[in-house]
Amino acid sequence: MQPSDILSRMYQTDTIHDKVYPKLEEESKQDFDDILQTNIFNVMLNRRSQRKFEDRPVEDWKMDMIFAAADTAPTAGGFQGFEIYHVTDAQVKTKLVEAANKQPYVNSPLVLVFCMNPSRVKLNFPQALLQKFSLQDATLAAAYAQLAAHALGLRSIWIGMIDEEKVKQALSTEYVPSSILCLGYPLKLLHPKPKRNLKELIHEV
Ligand SMILES: Cc1cc2nc3c(=O)[nH]c(=O)nc-3n(C[C@H](O)[C@H](O)[C@H](O)COP(=O)(O)O)c2cc1C
Repeated sequence: MQPSDILSRMYQTDTIHDKVYPKLEEESKQDFDDILQTNIFNVMLNRRSQRKFEDRPVEDWKMDMIFAAADTAPTAGGFQGFEIYHVTDAQVKTKLVEAANKQPYVNSPLVLVFCMNPSRVKLNFPQALLQKFSLQDATLAAAYAQLAAHALGLRSIWIGMIDEEKVKQALSTEYVPSSILCLGYPLKLLHPKPKRNLKELIHEV
């Protein structure tokens, strides 16, 4: 896979490399190996929730890849009924810990809040259905971001235990949050959790 393939969705310019890649002398072979030696099935199989992160920032170019990946997710009617808040302010992060039932790991190096935006979904359906669509849009985008982050050597934790009103206040937004994705470099690598037998999961009717 060429990293530029996915980024071209976000940056449709000829200067894409100037924007998102580290300068040549800063290039880390390891970073690119993380991507190039990965396939989607390995990413899915090896993803594991992580709540302990190194105290080091995520590179801008990796963030750009994650945002672009989130934006590849399917959305209802193609209307992209979601918004992403990239939280950099330390005080806002602290408020989000509070809004997430005091889960301390919400204060992670990279914090993304995925929100619903049903007003973007221009479909002639009842409001309740549009709400549901935008919830699914935001959820899918977060899931895509989570997988992309794993492919980039990052680890993450999905936070669903949130007080919606407190998150809205912390972000100063009217958009309803669906999840918070907390990301960073893991303190130690964890093995994926065992799952139930596929035969129990699949119901043929
Ligand atoms: C909808 C949803 C809500 C979740 N909420 C939380 C949460 O609030 N706090 C937390 O620590 N983990 C949360 N998780 C992470 C799960 O605990 C984790 O995905 C699960 O234990 C399976 O582990 P795995 O991701 O390593 O496969 C949530 C996951 C999902 C999908």
